[in-house]
Amino acid sequence: MSRIIIRHRKPLSGEIIPPSDKSISHRAVIISSLAEGKSLIRNFLAAEDPLRTIEAFRQMGIIIEGAEGSRGRGVKSIRPIGVDSYRDSEGSNEIVIQGKGLMGLKKPENAIDCGNSGTTMRLMCGILSGQPFSSALTGDSSLLRRPMQRVITPLAKMGADITSDKGCPPLNIKGGVLSPIHYTSPVASAQVKSAILLAGLYCKGVTSVSEPSRSRDHTERMLKAAGVNIDIKDLIVSITGRSELRPLETTIPGDISSAAFFIVAGSIVRDSDILIKNVGINPTRTGLLDILKMMGADITLENEREASGEPVADINVKYSRLTGVDIGGDIVPKAIDEFPVLCIAASVANGTTKITGAKELRVKESDRITTMANELRKMGVDIEELEDGLVIRGREKLQASSVQSYGDHRVAMSMAIAGLVADGETIIEDTDCIETSFPGFMKMLGKLHQ
Ligand code: S3P
Repeated sequence: MSRIIIRHRKPLSGEIIPPSDKSISHRAVIISSLAEGKSLIRNFLAAEDPLRTIEAFRQMGIIIEGAEGSRGRGVKSIRPIGVDSYRDSEGSNEIVIQGKGLMGLKKPENAIDCGNSGTTMRLMCGILSGQPFSSALTGDSSLLRRPMQRVITPLAKMGADITSDKGCPPLNIKGGVLSPIHYTSPVASAQVKSAILLAGLYCKGVTSVSEPSRSRDHTERMLKAAGVNIDIKDLIVSITGRSELRPLETTIPGDISSAAFFIVAGSIVRDSDILIKNVGINPTRTGLLDILKMMGADITLENEREASGEPVADINVKYSRLTGVDIGGDIVPKAIDEFPVLCIAASVANGTTKITGAKELRVKESDRITTMANELRKMGVDIEELEDGLVIRGREKLQASSVQSYGDHRVAMSMAIAGLVADGETIIEDTDCIETSFPGFMKMLGKLHQ
């Protein structure tokens, strides 16, 4: 089990290109595998989670070139087959997928192991529900504790037969003929919405989902690019099923959820001035930027453009003394993966930050309300847990300590950023999990300290 030791407290400076977007990488593999013919995906994220999705489709007979070799922790790595202009981070590559159409998958011989990836498992549920075969999905100890009823309920209404262990994986899916539904989701979850839309591909007619506030819309954008009829009205997304998917040629932007660690670091480490290039700024993902700006951060978007149907920009971040704010409501799903690192910003802000309406944090790779409260307390932060959030009273500096990741990649990286504003040596234990989303995280942090 590896650990990270953080000693630097120098200002951060220079330019980086963050790894590719994890959510979009998953969707590119899924939609290309179901398309008719050859898709080309540039700047694919070769981290453990999206590699699980590649392995799942390979198990079902899809040929995916550019992914081979061994990356440890049970997944294969990517062998680059093209030079990517965005390459800076270790995990960004070009892959080619030979899609076989909606009905081109073959029954997997063994259970599909989704590792740590909730996105792989929940999105696969939608597709496997529409197949003329049975299949099983499993995962690591963290994934086996995560709630799956949220996808089982709507998919069962569509006609799927899914059994679970009291709502958690492993799952056994008996696929078959599905019927369209209109589903009102009780949670703003892109994974739930996407599972239903992907199942909707297999239905004759229109399937729709409404959500309480808007979650990320990458599935909708990419299905549209593949020629599927998708209609979006306010918080309702509808899909017309059984149409052929066109192959994709797409370039995946940098992941704002990975850039987030440096956006916060640049904001809180005194005298920093950094440029983070090629970051996806899809408006369903930019809650972190809005919240940090409310806190007084000095963040400027440069070179705004569109790439493969997603908005992209370079982000300049300069140090600024932050002030505590109240965070809640519709902005929460737009920053859902950034709360661990936002807690670090709040811990060194002037005054109190109150986060509410974020109960979903309790069912992520770890219970991020409890894990962040426990670990930040070790660093001297006055932090109170709410059922659906946290109250954080900021202080000038953190106390260096030995902290845990709980096997959660975003907790591990957030605590590394906390170490940058601590007085001494911070040790983060159990950091192999960073490979799930951000290979080369420490190297990139080192680049900003040269
Ligand atoms: C994701 C959706 C979000 C997010 C997760 C990735 C996706 O989960 O937290 O890291 O790719 O669809 P929920 O759908 O559970 O909110």
